[in-house]
Amino acid sequence: MFTTAEKDTIPDLDFIPDLPSRSANPFMAPREPVAGSHRVPGDKSITHRVLMLAALAPGRSHIGGALTSLDARATARVLRLLGAGISALRAGSTISVAGMRRFAAPSCRLDCGNSGTTSRLLLGLLAGHRFRAEVTGDSSLRRRPMRRVTSALREMGAQIEDGGRDGLPLAITGGRLHPLEWEMEVPSAQIKSALLLAGLVGNVSVALRERAVTRDHTERLLRHFGFDVASRDGVLRFAPSGRLTRFELQVPGDPSSAAFLIAAALLAERGEIRITGVGLNPTRIGFLDVLRQMGATVAVEGLHTPFGEPVGDLVTRPARLRAVDVPAAAIPGIIDEIPMLACLAARAEGVSRFRSVQELRVKESDRLALLAGNLQAIGVEASVDGDDLMISGTEAPLAGRVVTAGDHRIAMAFAVLGRGRGSRVRVDDPDCAAVSFPGFAGALRGLSG
Ligand code: S3P
Repeated sequence: MFTTAEKDTIPDLDFIPDLPSRSANPFMAPREPVAGSHRVPGDKSITHRVLMLAALAPGRSHIGGALTSLDARATARVLRLLGAGISALRAGSTISVAGMRRFAAPSCRLDCGNSGTTSRLLLGLLAGHRFRAEVTGDSSLRRRPMRRVTSALREMGAQIEDGGRDGLPLAITGGRLHPLEWEMEVPSAQIKSALLLAGLVGNVSVALRERAVTRDHTERLLRHFGFDVASRDGVLRFAPSGRLTRFELQVPGDPSSAAFLIAAALLAERGEIRITGVGLNPTRIGFLDVLRQMGATVAVEGLHTPFGEPVGDLVTRPARLRAVDVPAAAIPGIIDEIPMLACLAARAEGVSRFRSVQELRVKESDRLALLAGNLQAIGVEASVDGDDLMISGTEAPLAGRVVTAGDHRIAMAFAVLGRGRGSRVRVDDPDCAAVSFPGFAGALRGLSG
């Protein structure tokens, strides 16, 4: 089980004694078998969205199981600056949100920290408010593209001052918005959600032509509040027909965080783990299909659907993995799990290919370059071929230093990969896992019982 109180540090991976053979996966064996029932922190995407919707729902909402990581705190912080009353985000406690139908003008810049989701969704919310607000973030977020959102918000009637650059900081002055019909160039749930939230706050309809299916938490939540949101023939239509009212809900565990523990179990020598209460929205669990193609067995048990989001347990055990060829169409459904899947491919038999993964270049880091570079640095043959990532599996012990550039998913993926027998892998900034998975190091250690 993870604990959030402890210092979030990856254990010393320098010395890992040999284990007896008879392993399901001859490539990898952490020091001990895996066992037990585990939980992961609340879903990051759902936490951002419910905090935002609660902030716009008059009255007091209560949110259980929410993520309390740095990214979630960034969302709570900017919402407080806009007038919402949000209690401290502490692991294990219910968050109370005193919402209001309209936000108040902020008295300072809205700093979204490292969180792309906070910044993009926030721009959607601000587009429907008649005040000027400045939005910024940390050095990673300031490098990430924003025009993918702001060009559509401009079309709706928001004024954007971005100094001629595609990024933060920028200022937005919202106002009376027009209905939007928009062709989405990049498959992105953040863009889609920003535009739906602009429609919600601006009380206008939105029609989005989508090239690929992306996570649909915003649609499900809006439907839950009686809004008309339907997807037909590749077009998602929102009509401002519902009304936000105070609510109570329980955020499920984050499948993207669960993916790291599942991967660690797959690479273990023996045993079985269960991860309970994980969000199993079909738009989030594409990684399970990839894992199954790689030869893994991951069972789903106890499926139920509170507030329109499927939730259940995942049960898995070590497996002998084989290489996989992931087509471009599957990428939006596994976008956050590619770092972990790429690290698993390093321990799979054969050459894996992840096709058209260019979107990785504009995540918290240039994940495409970092994945290939770090895999090479620890002794794995990996390369970028155009927009594809190629990885040759190896059974050799891995050794070297992993550069995270502060990217939480790079840190966690390589921490899992570095657990293998005889491997000596050092992650330069293990603490950055706290961006999405507070207590990650303890959770990884806890897999061994
Ligand atoms: C997210 C969408 C994804 C994902 C991010 C969270 C969301 O980004 O990578 O971690 O909550 O909407 P894109 O929509 O930009 O692909």
